Amino acid sequence: MMNILFIFMYLVACITGHRIDSMQNSVKENLDIERELKLINKTPVKSIHTKYGYIVDCIDINKQPAFDHPLLKNHKLQRKPNFANKIKKDNVMKSSTSEAIFGLDEKDQCPSGSVPIRRTNKNELIRAKSYFSNVLLQNSPGFHVAQVTLRTVPKYFSYYGVGGTSSIYNLKVEKDQSSTAMMWVIKGHMDNLNLIGVGWHVAPYIYEDDATHLFTVWTTDNFKNTGCFNLLCSGFVQTNKKIYLGGRFDNTSIYGGVMAEITFSIIQDPDTKNWWLINKNQNIGYFPASLFSNLTSAGQVGWGGKTTTSPGSPSPPMGSGYFPDNVFNHACYFRHVTFQNDSRQDFGPEDYLVDTFSDKPNCYSAEFYGNERSDVGYCLQFGGPGGRCND
Ligand SMILES: *[C@@H]1O[C@H](CO)[C@@H](O)[C@H](O)[C@H]1NC(C)=O
Ligand SMILES: *[C@@H]1O[C@H](CO)[C@@H](O)[C@H](O)[C@H]1NC(C)=O
Ligand SMILES: *[C@@H]1O[C@H](CO)[C@@H](O)[C@H](O)[C@H]1NC(C)=O
Repeated sequence: MMNILFIFMYLVACITGHRIDSMQNSVKENLDIERELKLINKTPVKSIHTKYGYIVDCIDINKQPAFDHPLLKNHKLQRKPNFANKIKKDNVMKSSTSEAIFGLDEKDQCPSGSVPIRRTNKNELIRAKSYFSNVLLQNSPGFHVAQVTLRTVPKYFSYYGVGGTSSIYNLKVEKDQSSTAMMWVIKGHMDNLNLIGVGWHVAPYIYEDDATHLFTVWTTDNFKNTGCFNLLCSGFVQTNKKIYLGGRFDNTSIYGGVMAEITFSIIQDPDTKNWWLINKNQNIGYFPASLFSNLTSAGQVGWGGKTTTSPGSPSPPMGSGYFPDNVFNHACYFRHVTFQNDSRQDFGPEDYLVDTFSDKPNCYSAEFYGNERSDVGYCLQFGGPGGRCND
């Protein structure tokens, strides 16, 4: 009897001990979050209450969050890239396309010497953190891709840029899911994965809405300790006064109808080696070279879609929700895709360089069409309906 009581008391002590531990942990986590939030949300020069309900702060360009990053303590702000920012021959697929509307209105743009940053609230930060630890890691259950990538054949071992114009959709995505269209540059694998990506996504998990948002993402260790979406951690240096990360798109494409499009490129500055993010002919800002452990050049560039869902649940649609069929207002596309090699000029990828891949062909696919048609240049489509993808 005594023994049993003893064991019982021991168990109670263990359980309450655990509870106190985890309470202390959560108090500590809470303080960490508050501290991080203070770092992220700087004192604004001006605040803009957007029509979408969130706030965009204009922050002194020299005091933006990037400069809190330990690797950027002595970073010298670069205001413009050291390469000619040619407008590519990507214009216009005639009447059936329109440029997506995003960023601040002309009248709202940030005063000179400051840059717009979407204000982060505590819930966003907490959700984004658990998102990274639970769902974003490649190879985790519920994570799927359909993509077109360029090979690393010896002659093309080094890439310095990627670009293209994609159609934007607003897909139906559940609260614990996301659906993404992006282009990227990467080097290394697994824990050494260095990545920069840009595109659009629907991610209620992050933004607490059903809208389509402009996003960037980066990491130097496959998201183990570094990297995040947008400015949920310090790293990206913003230079544009109007376009901001995490912004909502005003309108999106209509299946079979008018397309809303966006043009991006990620290009390494040949002098500073910083990776610039460019929207058509406007510089948005850059990822400083010193953030990365292994990105003096990229080993792979690519375009495509990614979806996430809770393990065991059906997957959301990707792209437009339809499989590629070479009809450009059906499946989501990237047109006029380009890459840069050592020559630092834009080229369209020839077939022998290209890999297409889908990890769940019953749910999503990707097709590369080469340079068949003059109106779309080198182009590809990707996506599909999702659903139960055998996982
Ligand atoms: C960088 O990545 C390449 C490609 O995966 C790898 O071969 C190389 O060893 C890496 N370098 C460093 C310094 O980690
Ligand atoms: C998006 O809005 C702009 C400006 O109102 C318009 O010109 C364009 O046609 C719209 N695009 C779509 C796909 O609705
Ligand atoms: C870059 O790629 C183009 C197009 O494939 C090719 O013609 C050129 O030789 C390459 N240049 C270098 C320096 O690799």
